[in-house]
Amino acid sequence: MIKFDLIYDADFLDQSYKQASKDILQQIKQEISDGASGYYNLPYESQDLIDKVQAYGNAFKHINTIAVIGIGGSSLGTKAIYEFLRHKTKNTKKIIFFENPDPIDITEKFMAIDKNSTQFLLISKSGSTVEPMSIFKAIIYNFNLKIDNNENIIAITDHDSALYKFADKHNIKTFTLKDNVGGRFSVLSSVGIVPLTLAGFDTKKILDGAVETLESFLNGDTKHIFDKAINLAQNKDKHPINVIFSYSNTLKEFTQWYVQLWAESLGKIDKDSKRTGLTPVGHIGAVDQHSFLQLIIEGPRDKTVTFIKIDDFENSLHVPKYTLDYIQKSDYINGHTFNELINAECDATMQSVHEQGVNVDIITLDKINEENIGELIMYYELLTSAVGIMLNINTYNQEGVELGKRILVKKFQN
Ligand code: PA5
Repeated sequence: MIKFDLIYDADFLDQSYKQASKDILQQIKQEISDGASGYYNLPYESQDLIDKVQAYGNAFKHINTIAVIGIGGSSLGTKAIYEFLRHKTKNTKKIIFFENPDPIDITEKFMAIDKNSTQFLLISKSGSTVEPMSIFKAIIYNFNLKIDNNENIIAITDHDSALYKFADKHNIKTFTLKDNVGGRFSVLSSVGIVPLTLAGFDTKKILDGAVETLESFLNGDTKHIFDKAINLAQNKDKHPINVIFSYSNTLKEFTQWYVQLWAESLGKIDKDSKRTGLTPVGHIGAVDQHSFLQLIIEGPRDKTVTFIKIDDFENSLHVPKYTLDYIQKSDYINGHTFNELINAECDATMQSVHEQGVNVDIITLDKINEENIGELIMYYELLTSAVGIMLNINTYNQEGVELGKRILVKKFQN
């Protein structure tokens, strides 16, 4: 269960929001019916996929590691869920993510892999992204993998992409995703469901959580999504930076996923040819209280802050009742749990930020579980779509990143 509280100042709330909420809901329902974006259907469509993947995975009992080779939308969402649930899900397989073409990172990961007990998942929606394709070539070379009929390789890609054709030619198992599911909205498609299910996570529960958020949104029950989207969009010039402060290391990768979702979806040229966007910043509390917080408190008033906390970490580790010579100042926390400490830090920081006139909101997860991460993912996807509608942009394309790719190709051709 997740609780959402917006703690906005009155002048931040715009009176016209009733009409704007109606417009958002209507447009999202339109996007669903005309298929402008397919992510809305994934919590239902992917249910069948889970059964298929489980049946497939049962034949590979010797596999103990899943290597995901993908970047951006093809890895970040899976990583967010994996890092959130990993510590509490027993008997799951290890997932190793090959994302960056960093030779040191790749070499270290090679050393952690036994090719006979690893399933290699090459994931690319477009099927031709240079980073995963180059890493895949290095994997084939390093582990001397055969390509034809190799059951330890799986491709996840759009139907008819270059990768799809490659896999088809070499008789490699393939899972597809639909054209209208964009990379950064694809975590609940085969892109995230296949690796997480193969690794042994309860992906059905993740989808159940997403369904819950989606249905209450479509019924108009999630007023907080509308309010937040409208206020963020209407105040984009005054508060163009949106900071997430997540109070748990388990949410570190989730904040990275949010940064991609927000930046690639909302940084656009709008329908009136004006540059627009909101800037996402992802931080982890309490660690980043000791760095970025100063800028929020005393720096320009150009930010809003979302705090995310977990009520019950289901962990009783506590601060022992020790008094250390000369260091008695911190004894007030003695005997309390770390769960209490991290959440009290979240509350205290939120109060201090709000008292300085910064608009904040808080998302509270009761526990770390599959349903909650599904809910949270769908919440942020819907919020992104809603803000995109308010900004009058195409949320689902990413033409801005294409130029760099073209320049890269030229660099190697000359
Ligand atoms: O959201 C997006 O579309 C991008 O971030 C892509 O996910 C990223 O560029 C990787 O592309 P692909 O999955 O086609 O390899």
